[in-house]
Amino acid sequence: MNDNYSIVVKDLTKKFGSFTAVNNISFDIEKGEIFGFLGPNGAGKTTTIRMLCSILDPSSGSATVAGFDISKQSEEVKKRIGYMSQKFSLYNDLTVEENIDLYAGLYQIPLNVRQKRKEDLLKMTELEERKKDLPLALPPGIKQRLALECAIIHKPEIVFLDEPTAGVDPISRRKFWDIIKGLSASGTTILVTSHYMDEVNQCDRISLIYDGNLIALDSPEGIIKMAQSKDLEDAFIDLILKEEKKKHAAQD
Ligand SMILES: Nc1ncnc2c1ncn2[C@@H]1O[C@H](COP(=O)(O)OP(=O)(O)O)[C@@H](O)[C@H]1O
Ligand SMILES: [Mg+2]
Repeated sequence: MNDNYSIVVKDLTKKFGSFTAVNNISFDIEKGEIFGFLGPNGAGKTTTIRMLCSILDPSSGSATVAGFDISKQSEEVKKRIGYMSQKFSLYNDLTVEENIDLYAGLYQIPLNVRQKRKEDLLKMTELEERKKDLPLALPPGIKQRLALECAIIHKPEIVFLDEPTAGVDPISRRKFWDIIKGLSASGTTILVTSHYMDEVNQCDRISLIYDGNLIALDSPEGIIKMAQSKDLEDAFIDLILKEEKKKHAAQD
């Protein structure tokens, strides 16, 4: 395997009964890359992420994450990844600081580095002043940064972010993306899903997913060029409409 790749996916498929949620997709993600998943609701993005996090078994195909097989080396994979799910898991009866302490414990961060790590993260995410607050009292943008913090406390090589900024105001989204770019610049690989075009535009590469199929994979500029569209939003809509037409033609 090429050492420059963090994630290598080959013919990955997930079926739920007779329904195919993810259909034979293949792609590679380089170390430090920000890789975007773009696709309508129900396209199969979360299902793919859950397979790559070794939470869900593939029906067929394979993938390695940080060099480990998602089917056979689940524990090795889990140690090296951070996962911020769509319904991220914060404990509402614990303060910001206690939530971080809890995750530091779960990830067995050595006690002698725990305090420093926590302070660094609070600083990076500008949450120092909120550390005694309960999550329920926090605006969504800040809650999201806390969830990110909990997901990266163990300095994972790869971070999966599933719609991390849904419902968050533009200033908070900008701050969140500045953190993401900082992580990528220091070598962390990021796989992120988003419906916001300004965010997806900041990815190094994007894969467009529709009905479980990977229908395009390129840089934002490459996708715009391929679709012969004026911007990413138009390209996205044009490519999806084209797929819908094909699907209906096949059904008629
Ligand atoms: N556990 C499950 N059982 C049955 N169907 C599922 C399950 N999880 C997801 N699906 C279906 O798989 C498809 C893809 O879902 P998902 O990966 O969540 O899409 P996305 O994240 O792109 O919105 C959807 O049609 C969804 O209803
Ligand atoms: Mg989803």
